[in-house]
Amino acid sequence: MEVVIVGSPEEGARIVADMVEETVREAGERGATLGLATGSSPVLAYRELIRRHREEGLSFAASRAFMLDEYVGLGPDFPQSYHRFIRENLVDHVDLADDRVLGPRGDAPDPVAEAARYDASIREAGGVDLQILGVGTDGHIAFNEPTSSLASRTRLKTLTRQTVADNARFFDSPADVPVHVLTQGVGTILEARRLVLTATGEAKAEAIAQTVEGPLSARWTATALQMHPAATIVVDEAAASRL
Ligand code: GLP
Repeated sequence: MEVVIVGSPEEGARIVADMVEETVREAGERGATLGLATGSSPVLAYRELIRRHREEGLSFAASRAFMLDEYVGLGPDFPQSYHRFIRENLVDHVDLADDRVLGPRGDAPDPVAEAARYDASIREAGGVDLQILGVGTDGHIAFNEPTSSLASRTRLKTLTRQTVADNARFFDSPADVPVHVLTQGVGTILEARRLVLTATGEAKAEAIAQTVEGPLSARWTATALQMHPAATIVVDEAAASRL
């Protein structure tokens, strides 16, 4: 695992954007398959990609993308849905076609079947070239809460109280946060050819220490990155403070 400690969140965002740009350029006309994460951690990197699209002509026209997760019950146009988050923070501002950005459907009538369908669709598309990740304060990646199998596939999960509390800032009240989600599994995520996890701030310091130095454990699902041959962690000094 490569750990990059940066002086500012903006510097970290440029490094993540560099990796995305390299992936897009390497893929050429074949088109890159990007793995997009929600949450506040990747937002600055998305802003940097939007800037490069506008000012430097970086094109995503040939690319496609898969999202990590979605709240059960929220359709793609619901304000707090992850589909909408990705549109507002990236897709609407670049030349990546909306119908080439796929995620699990939170409004699917049968969430269990939807999880299996979505998992298969990632494989059928040839897998993800570069997966962007954040990390929860309890060390989860996507919505793979503590004790998730490190071999898990895309499935229905229940959020912990901690994650509901952490994500309540995006909703009017904590009671509005859905407790069920569809999430790519840890095993699904590990199939991406390259992973980049980004985190900033003291609140992520313990999760980053466990991810980098802790024993491999389903208690902190981000530790699964230790098993990946091409994983990079980009953190600021506060997030790196317990390393
Ligand atoms: C949610 C998402 C994760 C994300 C995490 C951290 O739980 N499912 O993919 O990594 O939040 O979010 P933030 O980057 O806002 O701290």
